Amino acid sequence: MHVIVRMSNGSDARDLAALRWQSRTDGERSLESYGSFVARFCNWYADALISECWFAAVAAVEEALVGCMYLRCVDTVPVPGVARRAWGYVTHAFVSEGHRNSGIGQQLLALLIKRGQILGLKELQVWPSRGAVSLYVRAGFQSPEEQRSAMAPDEASYVLPLAGLQL
Ligand SMILES: CC(C)(COP(=O)(O)OP(=O)(O)OC[C@H]1O[C@@H](n2cnc3c(N)ncnc32)[C@H](O)[C@@H]1OP(=O)(O)O)[C@@H](O)C(=O)NCCC(=O)NCCS
Repeated sequence: MHVIVRMSNGSDARDLAALRWQSRTDGERSLESYGSFVARFCNWYADALISECWFAAVAAVEEALVGCMYLRCVDTVPVPGVARRAWGYVTHAFVSEGHRNSGIGQQLLALLIKRGQILGLKELQVWPSRGAVSLYVRAGFQSPEEQRSAMAPDEASYVLPLAGLQL
């Protein structure tokens, strides 16, 4: 099996929509038709690419996409004397079931890490699913506990889950 891992371009939109659809639950899929989702996804992806804030790495086997991983750049409020400061959020890592455990996830992540370096991002953050933690740890991501023990307390990230929060 020959796998090509590369940065995505606009021509991948429909295949990326299919991977996104595949990655969601039956319950979510029952809420919208496939055609409507693909159209909405393709509009979103076209805007995402133009924004230059979103990047996707993709894995292809015989031209069919079998995996993807996204990077969202997040700018900080401008800092005097610094042209740009931004960090990256890694999201929607997905490899279709028959192609897992052969290193595709690792290659997708390596490509996004390289892109993050090229973009001059300060750091990458991810909120991994339980099964994906080892993928990120192997690439050098630190757990919140490791960050807190290594850095000044005001540098570690604190997350406020908004679902269910009473205002
Ligand atoms: C998480 C996910 C993207 C990983 O993709 P993947 O292509 O299977 O990842 P890799 O193959 O690089 O690594 C997975 C395992 O295969 C092993 N592996 C890597 N290369 C290998 C090779 N050449 N031969 C055999 N095993 C290999 C790795 O050691 C790793 O095992 P471990 O995590 O238990 O240590 C994929 O499992 C997936 O889509 N899961 C469902 C969605 C999900 O949970 N996404 C994460 C959201 S953050």
